[in-house]
Amino acid sequence: MSKRFTITAALPYTNGPIHIGHLAGVYVPADIYARYLRLQGHDVAFICGSDEHGVPITIKAKKEGVTPQDIVDHFHTNIKSSFKDFGISFDNYSRTSAKIHHETASEFFKTLHDNGDFIEETTAQFYDAEAQQFLADRFVVGTCPKCGNEESYGDQCEACGTSHNATDLITPKSAITGATPALKETKHWFLPLDKHEAFLKAWILEGHKADWKPNVYGQCKSWIDDGLRARAVTRDLDWGIPVPVEGGDGKVLYVWFDAPIGYISSTKEWAQREGKDWKSYWKDEDTTLVHFIGKDNIVFHCIMFPAMLKAEGSYILPKNVPANEFLNLEGQKLSTSKNWAVWLPEYLKDFPEKQDVLRYVLTATAPETKDNDFTWKDFQARNNNELVAIFGNFINRVLVLTNKYYEGVVPSPNALSAVDTETLEKVNAFPGILSTSIERYRFREASQELMNLARLGNKYLADEEPWKVIKTDPARVQTIMYVALQISAALAVVSEPFLPWSSQKLKTMLQLQPLSWTAVERGNPLINPNHKIGKAELLFAKIEDTEIEHQLEKLAQSKLANTIANAVVEPQKETASFEDFSKLDLRVGTIITAEKMPKAKKLLVLQVDTGIDVRTIVSGIAESFTAEEVIGKRVTVLVNLAPRALRGVESQGMILMTETPDGKLVFVNPDAAHETTNGLKIS
Ligand code: MF3
Ligand code: ZN
Repeated sequence: MSKRFTITAALPYTNGPIHIGHLAGVYVPADIYARYLRLQGHDVAFICGSDEHGVPITIKAKKEGVTPQDIVDHFHTNIKSSFKDFGISFDNYSRTSAKIHHETASEFFKTLHDNGDFIEETTAQFYDAEAQQFLADRFVVGTCPKCGNEESYGDQCEACGTSHNATDLITPKSAITGATPALKETKHWFLPLDKHEAFLKAWILEGHKADWKPNVYGQCKSWIDDGLRARAVTRDLDWGIPVPVEGGDGKVLYVWFDAPIGYISSTKEWAQREGKDWKSYWKDEDTTLVHFIGKDNIVFHCIMFPAMLKAEGSYILPKNVPANEFLNLEGQKLSTSKNWAVWLPEYLKDFPEKQDVLRYVLTATAPETKDNDFTWKDFQARNNNELVAIFGNFINRVLVLTNKYYEGVVPSPNALSAVDTETLEKVNAFPGILSTSIERYRFREASQELMNLARLGNKYLADEEPWKVIKTDPARVQTIMYVALQISAALAVVSEPFLPWSSQKLKTMLQLQPLSWTAVERGNPLINPNHKIGKAELLFAKIEDTEIEHQLEKLAQSKLANTIANAVVEPQKETASFEDFSKLDLRVGTIITAEKMPKAKKLLVLQVDTGIDVRTIVSGIAESFTAEEVIGKRVTVLVNLAPRALRGVESQGMILMTETPDGKLVFVNPDAAHETTNGLKIS
C-alpha cells in the first residue's frame, strides 16, 4: 500500500562547502532512503535547504569584511549545485532567508506566544563592552561544565554534544575580542522544556525505546534524566528573523528555533510549485516523518523541535530520527577551519562521473553505530576490489557474452537446472533482504547485501562456465545467459538507491524498462527472451595509485599549512649588549665522529674538529638526526662555552642549531664560501 513520507535532511549551515562528513552522516543515507521509498511506490517529499542564520555565519562575514548575506548567497549556490551534481534527489532545496520561511517561522513563533507557551524573562546575558554587543551562542567560548572541553561554545559543546546556556560556561571569553564578558540585563522568550517533560518521557522513553537507534535513545534519556530546563528561543543579534511580537525590537529568533521550521517552509515552497497540499505532509497522522541528522543535532530534533511542534498542536511528530556518529578522515577529526576534509565540489572535479564510488564507500563505511574513518586507500580498495572486480566484472561478462553469442538478443531458456532455480530464488529474495536493512536504517549492511547479489552473479558464471560449455552444449548456454541476464536486471533495479548513476547506465545498457522494487521480488522474467540489449560499456573504472597519491598529497599540504599557522613563535629575548655578544667565540667546525650516548634518547657524542683542536661535544640532536648522517657535517660551534658534564661525558662547546617554523631542528650552517676554511672565526 502506498504511504506518505516526509523525509528531511539537516539543513546545512551556509558557512562552507559540503564535505564527506556531511555526506556520510546525513545526505547519502537520507537519499538512499528517499529513493528506496519512491521505488516502493510511496508518496515522498524529500526536503532540505540552507540554514542561513546563526552566529557562525556572522563571524565568518566579520572576518572576511563582507555582509552575512554575501556569505550565505555564495555558499547556498555552492551547496545546492554540488548536491545536484552528486545526485542527492531532494524534492525541494530551499533556504531560510527565503520570504516564505521568514513568514512561516514568524507565524509559528506568534502562535506559541499567543498560546502562552513561552516564558518572558529579563536575565543577565554576556555582553562585550568593547564590541558593544551581546554575546549569543558561538560569540562566547569557554569550558564545558559537563565534560571540561575548553573550547565549548555558548549554546553547545561539540565535544560531548550537550546543549547549555552561555552563562553555564566556566571561564567564558568573547569570541570577538577575547575579553572576559560582563553581564548585562536583557529580555528574552524562553521555551520551558521542563513543562514538556511528561510528554517527552512518554513519547521517547516509553514510545521509542525499541525502534530508535541506541545512540539516539541514549542521548535523549540522559538529557531527560538530567532534568529539562527552559531554553531561550530569542537572541540579541542583528542577523536572523526579527522577533515578531511586542518588545522584540533588535532581537531575532534563535537559529535553532527557526531552522527546523525550515523543513516546513521548504515543504510549502515545493507544494506551491507542484500543486500539492503541504499540510498533508505535516499534519496528517498517516504521514511518516523521518529526520536524518548528525549526532550533534540530536537534542534539537528529539527534544526541542518536538516540544515546539507539540506546543503548537497541529503537527505530527517524527517517527524516527536516525542520527549518525561522525566520520574521521585518515584518522583525524574532520575540520573546516583546518581544511582537513574532502570537499564535495573538489571531489566532483577530481573524480568526474565517480559520484557512485564515493556514495558506495561512504555507505559501506558509514558511521552508523560509532565514529568511523575514511581513508583514500580504502576508497581505492573498495572501488577496485568491489565495484570493479565484483559488480562491474559480472555485468561486463554478461553483456559481452550476450552480444557475442546472440548479437545482443536475450536468449530463450531451456529446462532450468536445480542450480538455476535456486539462483533465481535467491535473486528474488534480495529485495526483501535489502528492505529489512534499509527500513532499520542499516544502510551499511544493505550496501554489503547489494554487493552479495553481484557476488551471487559472479559465482554463478564462474561455476557454470558458459565460455567453455558453448563448445559442447550451446542449448545449455542459452539458459545460463538467460539466468545471468535476470541477475543483471535485478542489480539494475535494486542498486538504484545506492548507485543511481550506475543503475541508470546499466538500465541503458540493458535497454530495461522502468521496474519497481516489488517486480524483482515477484520474479521472472525481469528481462524477456527476444529483448534486444545495448552496447557493453564499463560500469566502473579502476582507480590508479597516482590518483590516490594526489589526494594524499593535498592532505599533506593542509597539514603543513596548519603546523606553520599554529607554530608558536617564541617572543624575542632581552637585549644582549655588544659586549655580551663579543664574548662568544664562534668557529666553523667539522664533525669527525658521532655515536649515540647509551641510554639517552636525545644525546649524540661528537668529536668535532674546531680548527683549534679536536674536542668532544655532547649534542641534544639524536631525535632529529642519526649519528651516521651528521658525520662529515660542517657546523657552527660555540667553542668557549664553559665545559659541562652530561651523563659523565664532558662537553666542551656547543653546536648551534635552530628550529624551522614547522618545528624541525636544523643546523646553523656555515655558508658555502667558508666551506674550506677550518677554524674560521665568525664575526
Ligand atoms: N545547520 C545545522 C547543522 O549543520 C543543522 C540544522 S538542522 C535544522 O548542524 F533542523 F535546523 F534544520
Ligand atoms: Zn562538553
